[in-house]
Amino acid sequence: MNILGIETSCDETAAAVVKNGHTILSNIVASSLKDHAKYGGVIPEIASRKQLEFIHSVIDEAIMCSGQTLKNIDGIAVTTAPGLLGSLLVGISYAKAISFALDKPLIEVDHIKAHLYANFIRPKNDTAKLPLLPAIGLVVSGGHSSLYHIKDFTRFKLLGQTRDDAAGEAFDKVARILDLGYPGGPAIDRLAKERSNHRLTFPPSRLTGSFDFSFSGTKTAVLYHHRQHQHDPDYNQANIADAFQQSVISILAEKSIDACMQNRCSTLVVGGGVAANSALRQKLKELAARQHINVYYPPIKLCMDNAAMIAGYGYHCYNDKEGINGI
Ligand code: KG4
Ligand code: ZN
Repeated sequence: MNILGIETSCDETAAAVVKNGHTILSNIVASSLKDHAKYGGVIPEIASRKQLEFIHSVIDEAIMCSGQTLKNIDGIAVTTAPGLLGSLLVGISYAKAISFALDKPLIEVDHIKAHLYANFIRPKNDTAKLPLLPAIGLVVSGGHSSLYHIKDFTRFKLLGQTRDDAAGEAFDKVARILDLGYPGGPAIDRLAKERSNHRLTFPPSRLTGSFDFSFSGTKTAVLYHHRQHQHDPDYNQANIADAFQQSVISILAEKSIDACMQNRCSTLVVGGGVAANSALRQKLKELAARQHINVYYPPIKLCMDNAAMIAGYGYHCYNDKEGINGI
């Protein structure tokens, strides 16, 4: 069964064809990132206009590269939430039109759960081991930071989420304070490796007894530190970047491992743009090994917004008769 996936929730316009919920036949992404960079964050009006500009050619290319034709597409999966309304509308309208014209089912897909599903899809000849369910899922992206218990692909139980900034959002805001450009995550990840001393720390908000997160206090602590010390002779951006990064990733990693232990899960799947962070990967590797937990990440390209995860997860939504033609 071939599903065409369409993803337009933010500043990426993406389309992909995935076979049987698992094998990626094509995966095309166009991004308007550079049009937002000078503003230090995504401008919704620019994002939706760019979606309109890109959508037709991106879908055409995804079909062409998959080696299929529209006739061989069995369903159209599209991100319906969460996301920027204007951007979402472009993908949903396009998906509805194709579904109507081909008389094929329209499948609505939740973007956050799809980020976790990115761990269960692979290119054609990739034989890497896939995670086993049940699992704990950590989604960390520019808009979300959530922990789920995943019993099967239709039973996701939310264990906790951020009470303020998403992890990626905190990375982006701190990068802005330090004038490192947008998106901030990759810049902080790189700069943190140049740390020269380990005296500086920004303690995380622990929110003890809950799987919720809070990052805005840490971000504000960075802002005050920067304002107070930026003219000191020993002011060092790499030390700040690493201290901030350690604060965010340590709490993400600790709560994820706690969630695995409390729910007796030996599998942890991580998804979203911040899953690309090298320090988070290292920390999770260390903590998980101690508790005999297997940690999985999608390849970097599939950590970011893409439509292969939408098509893959859409296959399960369709087969479990959830979210069909509901929009
Ligand atoms: O999943 P994604 O592409 O889009 C959303 O659904 O939000 O995630 C984008 C976010 C941005 O905030 C970006 O700064 C962050 O992921 N990010 C990173 C890294 N690469 C991307 N954060 C920390 N370390 C990275 N290496
Ligand atoms: Zn995303």
